Amino acid sequence: MSTATDAPLSLARYVLPVYRPRALVLDRGQGSRLWDDAGREYVDLSAGIAVCGLGHNDPDLLKALVEQAGKLWHTSNVFYSAPPLRLAAELVEASGFATRAFLCNSGAEANEAAIKLVRKWATAQGRGPDRRVIVTCRGSFHGRTLAAVTATAQPKYQAGYEPLPGGFRYVDFNDVAQLEAAMAGGDVAAVMLEPVQGEGGVMPAADGYLAAVRALCDRFDALLVLDEIQSGMGRTGTLFAYEQDGATPDIVTLAKALGGGFPIGALLAGPKVAEAMQFGDHGTTFGGNPLAAAVARVALRKLASKQIADNVARQSRALRDGLAALDAEFGLFAEVRGRGLMLGAVLRPEHAGQAAAILDRAAHHGLLLLQAGPDVLRFVPALNIADADIAEGLARLRAALADHLAAR
Ligand SMILES: Cc1ncc(COP(=O)(O)O)c(C=O)c1O
Repeated sequence: MSTATDAPLSLARYVLPVYRPRALVLDRGQGSRLWDDAGREYVDLSAGIAVCGLGHNDPDLLKALVEQAGKLWHTSNVFYSAPPLRLAAELVEASGFATRAFLCNSGAEANEAAIKLVRKWATAQGRGPDRRVIVTCRGSFHGRTLAAVTATAQPKYQAGYEPLPGGFRYVDFNDVAQLEAAMAGGDVAAVMLEPVQGEGGVMPAADGYLAAVRALCDRFDALLVLDEIQSGMGRTGTLFAYEQDGATPDIVTLAKALGGGFPIGALLAGPKVAEAMQFGDHGTTFGGNPLAAAVARVALRKLASKQIADNVARQSRALRDGLAALDAEFGLFAEVRGRGLMLGAVLRPEHAGQAAAILDRAAHHGLLLLQAGPDVLRFVPALNIADADIAEGLARLRAALADHLAAR
């Protein structure tokens, strides 16, 4: 075996086959462009699944990473270091509601912490295990740990992993009456949802939905947990999507773009719950390590800027206009939905199930796109993407769609 000299793709057989990546090996990136190991260039409208909010190789993130790498990588949470303390303070301040933060390594971990925090809080209220129900929404995605995948109300992610943890109840997203009925028994400790469902098809909360959920949580003394792992960090046009909905959460979870590509997650807790977990109640070895925190501090500062918010609004318009023009030409999309730079083009019924095939064509034409289920093309580019990258991405998408239709 000489793995050092084998072609990388031939080594895929050594990896647990839980992924099915495209048959190309990415080698380097700059802004919203990527190059594979054969030197082919791609426009990147996927941003590592809504992670690289500042594109690839951002000079400020790189500087923060290299500077911190030369100082201190890891201390464990037995000792303080400055970057996670500063990051926690900056996140709390930016949130407008939280009083404390918990730092971890991924989205699933942030949601796992949220689920545990809800249960601890309910326990402190004197509620027994059968009165600590967490309501989540069908079509949601909250991660792959056993509790997070149980919160994820989609059978395809749960099948075969039974027995699943108890204490979860599912309702339809955007259906206030159904939620009210689900809470009426008084056994619900929290409602947990994404302001814009990402993996579930880029489905935004309807106008007034989050405010109605907040009101129900107040009425039934339940917590509102918002999973902003995909919708947060500026993606929808404000730092957090809930800012647009007139609803103050009790807990918010973050990951993905928080580290600009460096793994980190966070839970933000408001005053009602922030003291519910005390010494020894939860923890992580790597969470909030100085390296990740130093990078995330810079990502937060840049992603919270007016410049980014302005660019998200501008490029969202450009992308929507471009997709409307493509639809006028090809008649492929039933609708384009989402907020800011979290957009989904829903394929018309006669093209249902074709998203994966279109993505193959797009890659062939030098465009990296995502799907959100079999029927939705998902656009989650870097938030600092330039006009030229959007224009070139749309041109390549046009070529891919023309090919796709010609081949049918
Ligand atoms: C809304 C949401 N929550 C949680 C997760 C899980 O995050 P991670 O893959 O970092 O565990 C994701 C990932 O796609 C997500 O989109």
